[in-house]
Amino acid sequence: MSPDAELIGRLERHGQGHLLRWWGELANAQRARLAAEVAAIDLDQLDRLVAELVRADGTPAAPDERVRPIDVVRLPQTDGERVAIRRAAGVGADAIAAGEVGVILVAGGSGTRLGFEGPKGTFPIGPVSSATLFQIHAEKIVALSRRHRKTIPLYVMTSPENHQATVDFFQANSRFGLEHVRFFVQGQMPAVDRATGKVLLAMKDRVALSPDGHGGTLAALAAPGPGGGPSCLDEMSELGLRTLFYFQVDNPLVRIADPAFIGLHREAGAEMSFKVVERTAPGEKLGVVVSVDDRPQVIEYSDLPPDLASRREPEGRLELWAGSIAVHVLERTFIERLTGDASHRLPFHRAIKTVSHVDENGRIVKPEEPNAVKFEQFIFDALPMASRWNIVETDRTVEFEPLKNAVGLDSPATVHQRMSDQFASWLEQAGVSVPRRGDGSVPFSIEISPLFALDSAELKSKIEPGLVVDRPMYLR
Ligand code: UTP
Repeated sequence: MSPDAELIGRLERHGQGHLLRWWGELANAQRARLAAEVAAIDLDQLDRLVAELVRADGTPAAPDERVRPIDVVRLPQTDGERVAIRRAAGVGADAIAAGEVGVILVAGGSGTRLGFEGPKGTFPIGPVSSATLFQIHAEKIVALSRRHRKTIPLYVMTSPENHQATVDFFQANSRFGLEHVRFFVQGQMPAVDRATGKVLLAMKDRVALSPDGHGGTLAALAAPGPGGGPSCLDEMSELGLRTLFYFQVDNPLVRIADPAFIGLHREAGAEMSFKVVERTAPGEKLGVVVSVDDRPQVIEYSDLPPDLASRREPEGRLELWAGSIAVHVLERTFIERLTGDASHRLPFHRAIKTVSHVDENGRIVKPEEPNAVKFEQFIFDALPMASRWNIVETDRTVEFEPLKNAVGLDSPATVHQRMSDQFASWLEQAGVSVPRRGDGSVPFSIEISPLFALDSAELKSKIEPGLVVDRPMYLR
């Protein structure tokens, strides 16, 4: 079997002929796989990305004077604001009860920083129960569905790397009681050499491919289902889902399908909404939601010029304070519009990474230093394309503690502590006293299953009078 002459010609024209260098050594099955991987690369697009993001530094950032703080629905301070949030929660609850709300969980990332074998969603994170991230998320949906007596369909995005393991995990756990869950696979992009822009081979018969970023969600939702069946978007439309709650797998505190957030989104007639928290330091690793020429936009923390990132209001608060926690609501029709029109494609960003690859002598090398550029799309780049939007502040201590690293910041230790602290405060709101250390943290692990209580109000209605909490506790 020799490589297709047309494919060889195309690769040569794009300077990627080396991808077939080891062809002579490969068995037929390996050749077929390599040919399929290579043929799937959009070489014209790759040329553009290499020119913009490898040979040049990408799109220049907007000049400082055009970047302004964005309008945000702040945390309620007054009775009037609290009433408005309760009214919005009613609107959101009605949407859920009408069966118009679905949930998208993105879990296609490689989780390299955590360094855990297997999909990140299978990481045991419950501070007492060791429940996995997937279990905690799924049980919140089951509980919310019971509360509103309506199925809330869940769409889980995987990558080719972790798809089967994810599906198997849900199956082995009887889908955690979910009534409707569908898995869909995101696309991949080739990694290129940082110096030359040439596509790397992971093995002699494999291109170095990696998931195309959480922005790949949009195209993956629009892609045909298995065997050419309906796409997720088609199915959502068929089910009557109008509003989609989007979140990422690594934050166990997320309030899935938060009715108040959905209600605020609907009341604003928004196509896309964001939850934000107040950034605590200029260098904090959160995308910054800003306004550029009166359009909303997210600027990556690493792209924000230091003087702009650290500019403060007279009272000391950061001027560009709104940090995205990657919790969104999107209208289904907005995603349909973006995916139906090539001029609305999300841009790619570059990520400089260390990627093992086959060198010119045919050996697999693992470089010490970052040697490669990966191309990723980010979901937040959809925001400027929304005709209307809503940005809503939340309190990070109640809704944001992502699991990113094995140790240090955003690691199992910090997530366990934050979860225990949050459950302690629910108990306190229900009238139970819980010991606290001098810094306010609780000295032992506390966990409440979403199936026992989804929030402090529900906990209050279930708690036994006279409950004493003086040691690790798991309510389920
Ligand atoms: P991160 O940006 O933290 O990336 O993803 P990651 O791949 O999980 O982890 P590192 O950077 O390799 O350590 C944030 C969220 O977006 C999802 C992840 O699964 C996580 O929920 N994601 C990320 C995808 O679904 N696909 C991607 O291509 C990238």
